[in-house]
Amino acid sequence: MKYNFDKVVKRVQSEKWGVKKEIFGTEDVIPMWVADMDFESPKPVTDAIIKRAEHGLFGYTFKSSSYYESIINWFNKRHNWEINKDWINYSPGVVPALSFITLSFSQPGDKIIVQSPVYRRFLEVIMEDGRQILDNELKLKNGKYVIDFDDFEKKASNSKAKLFFLCNPHNPVGRVWTREDLIRLGRICIKNNVIIVADEIHSDLIYKGYKHIVFASISEEFAQNSITLNAPSKTFNLAGLQTSVIIIPNKKYYEIYQSELSSLKLTRGNVFGLVALEAAYNFGEDWLEQLLEYLEENVKYLMSFFEEKISKIKVIKPEGTYLVWLDCRQLGLNDLELRKFMIEKAKVGLLDGYKFGQGGEGFQRINIGCPRIILKESLERIEKAVNENDI
Ligand SMILES: Cc1ncc(COP(=O)(O)O)c(C=O)c1O
Repeated sequence: MKYNFDKVVKRVQSEKWGVKKEIFGTEDVIPMWVADMDFESPKPVTDAIIKRAEHGLFGYTFKSSSYYESIINWFNKRHNWEINKDWINYSPGVVPALSFITLSFSQPGDKIIVQSPVYRRFLEVIMEDGRQILDNELKLKNGKYVIDFDDFEKKASNSKAKLFFLCNPHNPVGRVWTREDLIRLGRICIKNNVIIVADEIHSDLIYKGYKHIVFASISEEFAQNSITLNAPSKTFNLAGLQTSVIIIPNKKYYEIYQSELSSLKLTRGNVFGLVALEAAYNFGEDWLEQLLEYLEENVKYLMSFFEEKISKIKVIKPEGTYLVWLDCRQLGLNDLELRKFMIEKAKVGLLDGYKFGQGGEGFQRINIGCPRIILKESLERIEKAVNENDI
């Protein structure tokens, strides 16, 4: 391998590693929770940031034509999606964008469809912005999560349903929704005037045998009824640079979004985020290909480890993302006991399944975006705790 993903970097200013005491009540855990990776970003990104820093002047900036070109080329090359410059908007993050969209495309008391168990910020945004959750809970069938379309149709036909937060690839269950799934969801939403907000932030992290389909790329009708949220942040480990890409082909929706962003005075972006995005999309592909190979090996390692050594915990095989959903229900612990077990006995810091809403009880989410030696140590800790505690 050209890049050394085995290298252990002592991280600085890292939420994952720096606030263990606040999150888990102890320093004595290996943190495997928040969704960033313990890998250095591609060198061209770091080089571009250093070069920009050496310029020594950090006044107000603007988004150059080369910035837009890098986004257009990336989506074309990686996702076969041709986008126009005037569809591209900005947000400091995908989660802030979910909130801007909620505030500008729905009214207090309106409902937003989600598919739990789902990324918990979806639920927080809806509740904190004074909207209501309409939950189309995913169903676990033969080790794989599937969509209950009858229930989805029922939820979408609720007159208060205004938006659908689609998570694709899905955090935490790891599904990469098929074209067929997306077409069925899209048709139901369009029939019921529900706008699809497609959070595709994990779309570059897809395992062999699966393909990410950009929802808006399926048809002109889908493009006109959706807003796509993406970013280089998960792909290239740039979350701390707060630069996301919001793609809105519908002119009216674009203007609504733009006016929300303008009213919050958030349109500019920061110098380093823009530079990093451009370098990553222009020069990061080779690094990404190798990252995917490394992550794929981490998945294999984790799956055989659980199968051979901790068979009471079942792994939901991820089709994409570096987040893996663990079914711990056979351990026979309630949610509080499970949390305490992982922190106090196993000494690993995972994310509790119940925080992802309905259907998350008895599950934990582990982040495998780390050198294999860290993953190995975490799994061995869990194995030891399970054996020693006779559960
Ligand atoms: C589905 C999903 N959307 C958004 C985010 C975070 O996006 P941002 O950091 O750009 O707000 C995450 C991070 O875990 C995620 O999993």
